[in-house]
Amino acid sequence: MKHLHMTLALLSVGLFTLRFAWLLMNSAQLNKKWVKIAPHVIDTFLLVLGVIMAVKLSINPIEQLWLGEKILAVFAYIFTGYYTLKIAKNNMMRVIGYLGALGWVMLVVRLAMTKQGVFF
Ligand code: HEM
Repeated sequence: MKHLHMTLALLSVGLFTLRFAWLLMNSAQLNKKWVKIAPHVIDTFLLVLGVIMAVKLSINPIEQLWLGEKILAVFAYIFTGYYTLKIAKNNMMRVIGYLGALGWVMLVVRLAMTKQGVFF
């Protein structure tokens, strides 16, 4: 289950990077149906698997703050990703949004691996 979770995380970041690159290149690939649907399916499974593992392992995000921090960082990744692909009005803003989103992903992965809070 953990490996599937990690594979989906990799796919999520990979697909986000691909969509970011296509957006910068004004590519028609972005309008393909699978490109619009796949990220939602992958992200939903990624989050649901995370919740299932947390429940199975009895990790409460309020007691084990690394998980609480990880969930907050995941929200920040989702928001900065949305900003990058939908809200940003020009390529400069998109690049800034993309780098910000990657920063959150790095925090998420660090928290997942060390299980030690960085800010909390
Ligand atoms: C962008 C989103 C996410 C990424 C990149 C990510 C990444 C990872 C990685 C790399 C691991 C394996 C760590 C290890 O080597 O032990 C992991 C494990 C885990 N993740 Fe995530 N994760 C994400 C979202 C979530 C969410 C939203 C939750 C919970 C609501 C969650 C809960 C867990 C749990 C409970 C484990 C197992 C910890 C253990 O084995 O002790 N993850 N995650």
